[in-house]
Amino acid sequence: MILVTGATGQFGSKAIDHLLSKGVRPSEISALVRNEANAQHLKSRGVEVRVGDYTDYDSLVKAFQGVDKLLLVSSNDRQAVENRTAQHINTIKAAKEANVKYIVYTSFVRKTNFEDSSIAAFQNSHAQTEAYLIDSGIDYTILQNGIYLEMIPVFAGEKVAETGIILFPAKDGKASYVLREELAEAAAHVLTTEGHEKQIYSLTNSTSVSFSEIAKAIGNQLGKDVNYQSLEVDLFESKMKEFGVPDLYIGMFTMWAMAQAQGTMDVLNDTLEGFLGRKPTTMSEFVAHIY
Ligand SMILES: NC(=O)c1ccc[n+]([C@@H]2O[C@H](COP(=O)([O-])OP(=O)(O)OC[C@H]3O[C@@H](n4cnc5c(N)ncnc54)[C@H](OP(=O)(O)O)[C@@H]3O)[C@@H](O)[C@H]2O)c1
Repeated sequence: MILVTGATGQFGSKAIDHLLSKGVRPSEISALVRNEANAQHLKSRGVEVRVGDYTDYDSLVKAFQGVDKLLLVSSNDRQAVENRTAQHINTIKAAKEANVKYIVYTSFVRKTNFEDSSIAAFQNSHAQTEAYLIDSGIDYTILQNGIYLEMIPVFAGEKVAETGIILFPAKDGKASYVLREELAEAAAHVLTTEGHEKQIYSLTNSTSVSFSEIAKAIGNQLGKDVNYQSLEVDLFESKMKEFGVPDLYIGMFTMWAMAQAQGTMDVLNDTLEGFLGRKPTTMSEFVAHIY
């Protein structure tokens, strides 16, 4: 039995789709969800739905009964990044108690020295989870997923087609953006093939891109000039405030932009290509699809 957590989220639901398309029988898949009402589509496909919360240890031990392999999709807790670490550790502990044999964890890409990165808190949370998992004695595979291509429209802003301007303080920094769905496909590949125990995989694209290149690709697609402006952070934040963007989002945008400016997510690796058996979707292909 393979159990996928975050099964009503975007990564988890795609991972289940790919497990099914790789021939895993629905009766061999279970889905951990917080809210059963959101999981009717899983039930109707024959996937067993189990209710549990990363913060509720007993619910997890119960949900993990009879599970051999667990895909632990990292938490999206927005209150505090430390909450995520505690939730992941709780989940690994519960898996151990329930005698789960193997855990695949969705981590995040990082360079060796990430302490000065503007997203160090997120990377640290993943690093702590990885360390706990490695020490747990359970067999594991760690997927250090690259930044999602799906973040590009969020960073570019929903009005880019209208305004022809992208404001984002990422300077000339590059990041290796990768399609979330392909990362989910890679997770399904790892769960259904042999030889991945005790491996840490960096799953990124084979080219990194800057926001100038992203603006050019969006412009080509829209048939108009799209101008990328990397404002100073203070100016960027005050402009976002003027546009009515909530503070929480302004903080997040600045954090991701600075990480890109620092090259924190500029990691190239061909492991994903090997798992997919084809080239990962590029930024230009994604932009052509979205805009
Ligand atoms: N690589 C990147 O660029 C990138 C970007 C953003 C996030 N991430 C990370 O990747 C993860 C998966 O991405 P995604 O796009 O699938 O995110 P998502 O759609 O927000 O899904 C997150 C899933 O985690 C579940 N979850 C959150 N807190 C939980 C808890 N306390 N107990 C049980 N389940 C809980 C959510 O449950 P519900 O469905 O009940 O809400 C949801 O299903 C994110 O959670 C985040 O850690 C990566």
